[in-house]
Amino acid sequence: MTAPARVADAPLPAEAWDERLMAAALSLGRRNLGRTRPNPSVGALIVRHEGGRPIVVGRGFTAVGGRPHAEAEALRAAGEAARGATLYVTLEPCVPHGRGARRADAVIEAGIARAVVAMDDPNPRMKGRGIARLREAGVAVTLGVGIAAARIAHAGHLRRMTDGRPQVILKLAVSADGKSGLPGRRPAEISCEASRAEAHMLRATADAVLVGSGTVAADDPRLNCRLPGMRDRSPVRVVLDGRLRTPLETKLVRTAKEIPLWLIARQDADEEAEARLKAAGGEVIRVAAKADGKVDLAAALRYLGARGITRLLVEGGPILSAALIQSDLVDEAVIVQSPNSLGRDAIPALEGLPLEALTASPKLKPIERRMVGADELVRLIRS
Ligand SMILES: NC(=O)c1ccc[n+]([C@@H]2O[C@H](COP(=O)([O-])OP(=O)(O)OC[C@H]3O[C@@H](n4cnc5c(N)ncnc54)[C@H](OP(=O)(O)O)[C@@H]3O)[C@@H](O)[C@H]2O)c1
Repeated sequence: MTAPARVADAPLPAEAWDERLMAAALSLGRRNLGRTRPNPSVGALIVRHEGGRPIVVGRGFTAVGGRPHAEAEALRAAGEAARGATLYVTLEPCVPHGRGARRADAVIEAGIARAVVAMDDPNPRMKGRGIARLREAGVAVTLGVGIAAARIAHAGHLRRMTDGRPQVILKLAVSADGKSGLPGRRPAEISCEASRAEAHMLRATADAVLVGSGTVAADDPRLNCRLPGMRDRSPVRVVLDGRLRTPLETKLVRTAKEIPLWLIARQDADEEAEARLKAAGGEVIRVAAKADGKVDLAAALRYLGARGITRLLVEGGPILSAALIQSDLVDEAVIVQSPNSLGRDAIPALEGLPLEALTASPKLKPIERRMVGADELVRLIRS
């Protein structure tokens, strides 16, 4: 007697798996966020659809430093099984330029029959050429599967390609009454342990982390990633220090030979201070100042973009955070609010601006809201 057919056994067409397999490719790509600059962190799967079920025969994600690319890794893992299979990839495969990578060609040579691509690449060298190349070679291409999530995952690369600067992710820890420091600009312990672990995860997925000189003076932060087993994922530490007043005894300077430290100063900043900071392992970058005497933020960000920084995490403080908002340079915000208040005399989270300048900004839309331990985390992104 044959068993009765189960509805769950009904074979699905290959396309019905596209969203789920692209979600898996996006997860793979996120593994190396913050480690692949100047390249995006892409994920790829090679899948054979047999009997209505997907069989993953190759997986890959962009390697540390940006190469090999995700598709190359996935194709290598799949070997001959790639012939006739489907490629799921979170960004358009690149096409040859000079003697550079030949990914679209490698996909064709491997005999991939269908490519599902989340989004095209705004890199001027690409802009649809990879997809056109695949189609010319007879590969069936489906474009746009998982595009909303891919835009978020690749936001750093997209921002750098379109605006020449990194995606600016502002992280703020605020008290229940909207404050972020104690009177006298003394540091306050605001967020809970679970939130602090999330903050370290944000560092791990950023290419660089930025603070103003006021935060260095008040908090003496290390700005490294201290999650167990993830210390090698510390980002480049950047200080906006117009007059190069960062003391040599700060933790940032004392660790500058192990983890890169870049100090962004005005053109007229003290040359002896520069020599001392350089001798200690820091790198000093001079940028033009605006009429108010402060380093030109847009110019500083363009410089970081030129150095290949795609994801810049900003960890305060209130003066720098407000200046970035006022210059419309905040692309994402992660706000962690504790249930405890700091009191009337404490320092507002944004100098001269209400917190609503972020939370109710017409430019930013909330995409996530959840509890992290005792704190509430809200994530907003440029709409
Ligand atoms: N809760 C949180 O999330 C958090 C995070 C960080 C800090 N904090 C707290 O915030 C307080 C310190 O913050 P803060 O507001 O005094 O300092 P800040 O925002 O970290 O640094 C401000 C300084 O950055 C320098 N800077 C250079 N270019 C700038 C530009 N274009 N725009 C603005 N600033 C520029 C300026 O000094 P120069 O003129 O010398 O260049 C400016 O005075 C402390 O209480 C600290 O504990 C809280």
